[in-house]
Amino acid sequence: MKDKILTVGSLNYDIFLTVSRFPEEGESMIAEEASFSSGGKGANQAVQAARLGLEVYLAGAVGKDGNGKYLKETVAGYNVNTAYIAEKDVPTGLGVVTTRRDGAVKITVLKGANFALEKADLEPLREILPEVSWMILQMEIPTEIDEALLDMAAEYDCKVVLNAAPPAPFSDEAFRKADITVFNETEALYYLGYRPETREEAYQALRDLRDRFHNDVVITLGKDGAVCLEKNADEPAFIPALPMKAVDTTGAGDSFIGGMVYALTKGKDLEEACRFASCCSAVTIQGYGAQVSMPDLEQAEALYKKL
Ligand code: RIB
Repeated sequence: MKDKILTVGSLNYDIFLTVSRFPEEGESMIAEEASFSSGGKGANQAVQAARLGLEVYLAGAVGKDGNGKYLKETVAGYNVNTAYIAEKDVPTGLGVVTTRRDGAVKITVLKGANFALEKADLEPLREILPEVSWMILQMEIPTEIDEALLDMAAEYDCKVVLNAAPPAPFSDEAFRKADITVFNETEALYYLGYRPETREEAYQALRDLRDRFHNDVVITLGKDGAVCLEKNADEPAFIPALPMKAVDTTGAGDSFIGGMVYALTKGKDLEEACRFASCCSAVTIQGYGAQVSMPDLEQAEALYKKL
């Protein structure tokens, strides 16, 4: 039965520094607080899908160090299957997250073991691929691994959500192999050469990306919501963000993707899946850390029912 979700992506040990404002170039400044948590776009998206009740496998790589052990144990604690996470002789990936008091974040990532992932590490996935309905990919691993995974997904008839984050050179041909591509404004700017600032520009960006990559496209716009356009649709749809007070927006986009995939597996169309996804993000931004703030099904549905 095709009822499993496979996320292949990064696991990062996130270090959070809370600041009253972001430092200027050349400035040293004192953080108000520090905290640590399990992160990485791949792991975050896997955790959100698992928190909602899906059967989720996370494949990726960590180092043979304490951080790697902690990350594997943490995601396993959220019911994510970690059997396909490789251990490498390089340090585990790191995320340094500077969080401003209004929830805005700036994130710097150390590639670490995530970028030591090799094609040979993907071979064991063939055991579960026949049962995978959706594969979820991001770009915090080598792009040639993403390319290989897009081909494997086609071989096993798995649908793919490709989150172009962080943006990296990737061929149009490879993008076209995904069923859904997801961008934020910065990622849209990278691939299109312009940043969608208004709703109309966001709609135009959807059309430009769809015409180029020939798939369903979603652009998340932070506090301004999200827009989406199905491959064969004439009109884009706008999904407003819920008016929640943000504490830390880390992982909001990851929560959106995990939530979107959950809703798609339950038969919702893209627009409705994005509406459910925005409820997941709305919960996630209300607490510090990514995985630790993500909603379970009851929390997400409580918000969704009120829309
Ligand atoms: O999307 C948020 C994530 O980006 C953080 O957890 C950090 O590790 C980086 O991967």
